Amino acid sequence: MILDPNQAPPPTIDLGGNFWLPRQLSTLAKDIDWAWNIVTALAIFFFIGVVGAMTYFVWKYRRRTENDKVSTVEHSTIIEVVWTVIPTLLCFGLFFAGFKGYLNASIVEAEAYEIKALAKKWSWTFIYPNGVVTTELGVPKDRPVRILLSSQDVLHSFYVPEFRVKQDAVPGTYTSLWFRATGVGETALLCTEYCGTSHSNMLAKVVIMEEDKFNKWLESKDDSNVPLADLGKKLYTDRACAGCHSLDGTRGSGPSYKGLFGKKEKLADGTEVTADENYLRESILQPGAKIVAGFDNVMPAFQGQLNEKQILALIEFIKAQK
Ligand code: CUA
Repeated sequence: MILDPNQAPPPTIDLGGNFWLPRQLSTLAKDIDWAWNIVTALAIFFFIGVVGAMTYFVWKYRRRTENDKVSTVEHSTIIEVVWTVIPTLLCFGLFFAGFKGYLNASIVEAEAYEIKALAKKWSWTFIYPNGVVTTELGVPKDRPVRILLSSQDVLHSFYVPEFRVKQDAVPGTYTSLWFRATGVGETALLCTEYCGTSHSNMLAKVVIMEEDKFNKWLESKDDSNVPLADLGKKLYTDRACAGCHSLDGTRGSGPSYKGLFGKKEKLADGTEVTADENYLRESILQPGAKIVAGFDNVMPAFQGQLNEKQILALIEFIKAQK
């Protein structure tokens, strides 16, 4: 690998924990660690059992004299049933052990605090609902936090071992994850998708704070930034979205923004789509991709005309039109 000699050495961040697993700093950690431990324990148990039995039999049935002959092995239905049924039951058990944690990690708790994370070679940028932009991730303790991820260049991956969360950041689309931090302190966010020369330096500090301390921290950051939804409102006027998309439900050349987010839209081709972040993003950048039934393909494409923050701001503004 070619390293840039002028580059700063990677920051060292202590992940705490023991040699087995990092500290548990989110409500998701328990289920995930339990599934991990049970799978590891079963694997060790069967490895020792199988290899042990095999070694014993190799020794016990070794050929002792020239006259030793292999006896005829009879088919045993009982043994066959046993070694089919037990692993099947174990596999079902493992499936549910993992599935419970998977569901918890997939479904975000209600009223989550949403932070946008932008990944690019080789840094992370975070945008808070009030418009503050930071390079370290500050999160409140005991509150569900949803991270909406996107990448500006190649695949990256958002990984906070102590939260037990990992999710790819994909260029051109949004992905998300959530966690509820259970302790205050500092930990690390790592990029865990190989993304080029400085992949291993693509770290960010994660600071977990009590709610009131978090609010103060957020205030202490540059407050000259306009809140995302307000920036979106400005773009709504500046980029003439207002000419076709009403905010009060009135029908224009395009669908109204009122109650749009989360709604199921019937498309001209008969299919249905949920108006989520990815749908809105696509409809802003390439409006012709999915035309809502009853409307014409007349909107100009904004591909290349809005930066990532502006796209997020417009989506935030649309989300606010309940
Ligand atoms: Cu970004 Cu690896």
